[in-house]
Amino acid sequence: MPTNDSKPIVQVENLHKWFDLLHVLRGVSFTVDPQEVLVLIGRSGSGKSTLLRCLNMLEEPSAGSITIGPVSVRVEPGKHVDRRQATAIRLQTGMVFQEFNLFPHMTALQNVIEGLVTVKKLPREEAAAIGEKYLDKVGLLPKRDVHPVRLSGGQKQRVAIARSLAMEPKVLLFDEPTSALDPELIGEVLDVMRRLALEGTTMMVVTHEMSFASDVADRVLYLDHGVIVEQGPPTQILKSPQDERTAVFLRSFLESRGD
Ligand SMILES: Nc1ncnc2c1ncn2[C@@H]1O[C@H](COP(=O)(O)OP(=O)(O)OP(=O)(O)O)[C@@H](O)[C@H]1O
Ligand SMILES: [Mg+2]
Repeated sequence: MPTNDSKPIVQVENLHKWFDLLHVLRGVSFTVDPQEVLVLIGRSGSGKSTLLRCLNMLEEPSAGSITIGPVSVRVEPGKHVDRRQATAIRLQTGMVFQEFNLFPHMTALQNVIEGLVTVKKLPREEAAAIGEKYLDKVGLLPKRDVHPVRLSGGQKQRVAIARSLAMEPKVLLFDEPTSALDPELIGEVLDVMRRLALEGTTMMVVTHEMSFASDVADRVLYLDHGVIVEQGPPTQILKSPQDERTAVFLRSFLESRGD
């Protein structure tokens, strides 16, 4: 739950992204308060991944401004983002991908501490202590010396979450973190995310897990063709959307799930 007296930890204003002539983000503005959990929904191709990737500069925004914690970047159309600014923004965020992206030749602990050692330049012992703390948080300390090939998909994703947490970002960005998992493994990852939310981790989550959205999100955003057309508490957006586009999406989504 967000705290009352705080100013937003993320502020996005009029964000645009073009891929050549394809205008994917068409003026996205929103804020995220400290400890708030935002769930982003929308049909395939609406720009959800692109939005998260712009927030941590995996994609270069084409125009607009992004503030995360103490770092602000304003992108003028036709100009490139300064590389140091992009790195500064990236350090404020942690990203969890659908496909985990763990290094196969490293153990769970080595994966978790890689950024601490190479980016934050911490001595290996100090990094290992932090890494163990976060492996423990996702329930995987017993697997610290195991390589990804010997972990289940759910365990791999929990290691990936620990890796993001270890960098102590201001906001965690999740892009369909359970979509690559067998159904029986989804719950353990959602449980970890639920726990993080309860502990006050600020998160932005792209997911199709509507029960997670409804239980955990403070706010749901519906993105349609690169524009946020509606946002509000999950009960409002998921149960009685005001915008016809949101309503149509949710209806077809629930039908395709057989709900
Ligand atoms: N690197 C890229 N180069 C060119 N076009 C891209 C690139 N990345 C995404 N796109 C296009 O941008 C649009 C938005 O894609 P994006 O992946 O953000 O959608 P999404 O909402 O995450 O969809 P999904 O639910 O399928 O993951 C799509 O039309 C996609 O083809
Ligand atoms: Mg996507």
